Amino acid sequence: MANFNTVFVTGGAGYIGSHCIVELLEAGYSVIAIDNFANSVNGEHGEAPSLKRVEQITGKPVIFYQCDLLDKSKLEEIFSKHKIDCVIHFASMKAVGESMQVPLLYYKNNIVGTINLLEVMKQNNCYQLVFSSSCTVYGNPEYLPITEEHPTGDVTNVYGRTKYFIEEMLKDISAAEKNWNIISLRYFNPVGAHPSGLIGEDPTKAFTNLMPYMAQVAIGNKESLTIFGGDYDTVDGTGVRDYIHVMDLASGHVAALDKLNKEHLRLKVYNLGLGTGLSVKELVHEFEEVTGVHIPYALGPRRVGDVDSLVCDGSLAVTELQWQPKYDVKMMCRDFWRWQTMNPNGYRSETATAAKLNGTTLAVNGKQLNGH
Ligand code: WQD
Repeated sequence: MANFNTVFVTGGAGYIGSHCIVELLEAGYSVIAIDNFANSVNGEHGEAPSLKRVEQITGKPVIFYQCDLLDKSKLEEIFSKHKIDCVIHFASMKAVGESMQVPLLYYKNNIVGTINLLEVMKQNNCYQLVFSSSCTVYGNPEYLPITEEHPTGDVTNVYGRTKYFIEEMLKDISAAEKNWNIISLRYFNPVGAHPSGLIGEDPTKAFTNLMPYMAQVAIGNKESLTIFGGDYDTVDGTGVRDYIHVMDLASGHVAALDKLNKEHLRLKVYNLGLGTGLSVKELVHEFEEVTGVHIPYALGPRRVGDVDSLVCDGSLAVTELQWQPKYDVKMMCRDFWRWQTMNPNGYRSETATAAKLNGTTLAVNGKQLNGH
């Protein structure tokens, strides 16, 4: 049996990465994180504000390097400095719309970046990997709820295709070389934030996902929400998704690592979702109820590439990974809202807002951070 201690996390400063690092540290792992700040806020000296907050939450250090996966020599340098037992690979460009406009950039970043990572892992005799995949690999589902056996590949956008191609690559390498031990986690729709309100979703690119957009409307940064399509074949005509609290997603990664630690699987795939479908209108209603803030909305046309419903069968992760999701939709809304109201400008203008934890005000950077 392997004995993991040090986890290398790519995309560690991002939304899912930072939440996962909290869970990893709390489970006793040491973490070395990298990020290129393509879609996360960077600090003045190349540090990651999100990971500073992670250190505050956990009281434990995170070793961080600003590093792009396309910079293979830097990656090699980091691997040579540390003894890395396993890798969680989050780093990825992930905007569906943008991926259709600049496909080459997506293919290069996501696929070449992953190849570099896999090569450096191999050079260093590190074959344990948790890969951040997506329900988008299922395309327009043939049946619901979606099990892991559902066909993949008929994907409606370039971003999704990069995830699909990487999954195929992982299949091939794990079939060819028996050392690899890989879990690919197909996320449904991650939302929410750490219950402390100290870390949350703060993309540096435009908000396009439903919950962050809705929260922007709620705090008055945007006028109203446009619901993309009211004529889907769903309970109320609006799109149905399987929302999952980001802390449940994070604990799913720790459960996956524990599994890899115990068993040599070569390659396994698990859905991470609650198996509960919620329409856009239902989520808006829940959000209004939890926050007490009215969300004005207008029905607009469908968004290209969207599907009616995506709901998973998440039972395999529950039984085989002993993963226990703990958060319901009200907690997802509550925690996202707490993060949003405590940090109206995210990690950026730390002067305007002092984040509070248990009544104590955090001393935060007095200057506007780079790039904003
Ligand atoms: C949810 C629902 C929209 C915004 C994406 C990726 C997927 C995954 C998670 C990523 C849909 C509707 C949205 C708005 C709206 N993985 N909506 N108005 O598209 O289900 O999934 O994020 O990394 O791969 O595709 O998430 O939050 O954008 O949309 O009506 O302003 O909300 O049409 O029904 P999506 P989403």
